[in-house]
Order: sequence, then C-alpha cells, then structure tokens
Amino acid sequence: MQNNQQTATIAKADTSSVDSNDCVATKYPNDDKPMALMMRQMADNTAKMKELVLAGKPVTADAFPFIRFHLVEPTDPDVLQPQFFENARLFQEAHKNLVGAKVAEQKELYTAYINQCINCHQTYCSGPLKRINKLKIN
Ligand code: HEC
Repeated sequence: MQNNQQTATIAKADTSSVDSNDCVATKYPNDDKPMALMMRQMADNTAKMKELVLAGKPVTADAFPFIRFHLVEPTDPDVLQPQFFENARLFQEAHKNLVGAKVAEQKELYTAYINQCINCHQTYCSGPLKRINKLKIN
C-alpha cells in the first residue's frame, strides 16, 4: 500500500517536470492564444452536452458546431505535428457521429467523443486531463 502511494507521488512529480506536455493556462496568463480560448469554449460546451445526454435530450449540430481549433494559433507551436492533426481529425469524426445521433445512441457516442479529447491530451497537453476526466459519463 505504502509502496503504491510512493509510486503515485513520484509519477506526479515527473509529469509536472515535463514542461512541453504541461500546457497549463497560467504559464502565459496575459497572452491567451486562440487555441487555448477555443479549448475553454469546447470544455464549457462539452459540460452542456453531458447534461443533455444525461437528461436524454438531443445534442444537435446547431447548438454545438465543430470548433476549428486545429487551424488557429496554439500557445506552443511545437504541438502542430502530423499526429496532432490526425488526432484532431479523429476527434472531428467523433463529434460528427455524436451530433448526428439518435438520442438512444448518444451516451455511447458521447463516451467515444470524450475519449478523443483524452487521446490527444495524453500526447500534447496533459495539464487539463483531470478536468476532462470529470466530463466522462460513468
Ligand atoms: C487534437 C488534439 C486535442 C483535442 C482533440 C482536444 N484538445 Fe484540448 N488542448 C489541446 C492543446 C494542444 C491544448 C493547448 C492549447 C493552447 O494552449 O494553445 C489544449 C488545451 C485544452 C484546455 C486548456 C485551455 C486553457 O485554459 O488554456 C482544456 C480545458 C481542453 N483543452 C479541453 C479539451 C476538451 C474538453 C476536449 C474534447 C471535447 C479537447 N480539449 C480536445 C489539444 C487537444
């Protein structure tokens, strides 16, 4: 038990020292780049989508159009790698599947959608993962 706790602490310390994958907003508090602002909007929208899915109400493309975050300037230009754009494509597909779905299928497709947020964030921006995990439907 104690060993596990120790491992967890070390892992946490290691993550926070990996600067390039950290991407916390407070790093550049007065210079928010368009991609960061769009991500915030997406996270707010996703919280609303979650409520609708849980209430059995439709998540529509009109209310939640795809936000083209991958075409705007990020805080860290190093993220703009082929894998980032491939992740963005997979995410856009998951978004399209969700907003076009029947209410009965929304819960499953919402989970697939959130998994694509997580997929990209594990590689490019681990800072917000805790917040994104709270958007999951269990
Ligand atoms: C293709 C990759 C990718 C996908 C998919 C993605 N993100 Fe992000 N996210 C990023 C990157 C890169 C940043 C850093 C943006 C910047 O600082 O310019 C970011 C930043 C964020 C932030 C922090 C914004 C801030 O305040 O600075 C949040 C919150 C966030 N994303 C939530 C989400 C949610 C929720 C989803 C899914 C609905 C999602 N992201 C999908 C790559 C992605």
